[in-house]
Amino acid sequence: MIIVGGPAANNIDLEIAKLINAPSVTLEYKKFPDGESYIRYPVEEVDISGETVVVVQSLYPPQDKHFLELLLALSTAKDLGAKEVIAVVPYLAYARQDKRFRRGEAISVNVVLKAIESAGADRFITIDIHKEKSLEVLSIPHENLTAMRELAKYLLKRNYKNPVILAPDKGAIGHAKEVAKILGTEYDYIVKVRDRKTGEVRAEAKSLDVEGSTVIIVDDIISTGGTMALAAKCSLALGARAVIAVCTHALLVNNALTRLKESGISEIIATNTVPSPVSRISVANVLAEYLRRIL
Ligand code: R5P
Repeated sequence: MIIVGGPAANNIDLEIAKLINAPSVTLEYKKFPDGESYIRYPVEEVDISGETVVVVQSLYPPQDKHFLELLLALSTAKDLGAKEVIAVVPYLAYARQDKRFRRGEAISVNVVLKAIESAGADRFITIDIHKEKSLEVLSIPHENLTAMRELAKYLLKRNYKNPVILAPDKGAIGHAKEVAKILGTEYDYIVKVRDRKTGEVRAEAKSLDVEGSTVIIVDDIISTGGTMALAAKCSLALGARAVIAVCTHALLVNNALTRLKESGISEIIATNTVPSPVSRISVANVLAEYLRRIL
């Protein structure tokens, strides 16, 4: 098995290679003056023909560029004679456009996944995809791994006082449950409630009393930070002593960090599927464990 690091592998490729004791190679890449992407396998360093090749490339911004580089890397691995090509995409961009919210829209996640398969992937692996069901469009073996255990282990070490886990919406309840199980705490999700008289929208934990607790809000993605900020404000208004925001993919666009701080969140913790100032937990272990299992 040869681990190949794409331009957006964020060093996860090197960590995996070390953990499973496999050779690794980093793709050469550049942008042509007109903006087109270029990748090259350094064939003088390593011969991938007849090998199982694991291409690691996350799809954080600029997503379109990283996506095209991934397609070029997968397709070229096949061209160069790889026996099996495994696409490891820690953060899958476009996963939130998983249905037609408005008539005529592209179901982007389907297009992206089908393109990865068509480019030559024989197996697809990702982490905390927005909706696991999206993977059903693939006809190759696939796996959605989770970083929640790694995040929970980190939280456990922090020894927070009186912690409770909240999902910022019902969709993230599975993540909250997983983290709560490891921390041995209660969990709940937040619902939006509209005041009939004033029309004001506020968010409340469905049934849990958070007064005096350290509320740990867990989600798959923080993008603009709007979802987390609302959940944090609601927790503090309900008497939480502190709010910690935890996610797998910290995109942090449009001044998200400022928004999160202003909402009263005291700490943000994320994985390295997306590089950011808060990406402290590596997903390499989770990926290495899975690769060991399928070898
Ligand atoms: C939505 O269902 C997702 O799980 C996230 O809650 C959402 O995408 C986060 O986006 P933002 O940070 O922009 O609110």
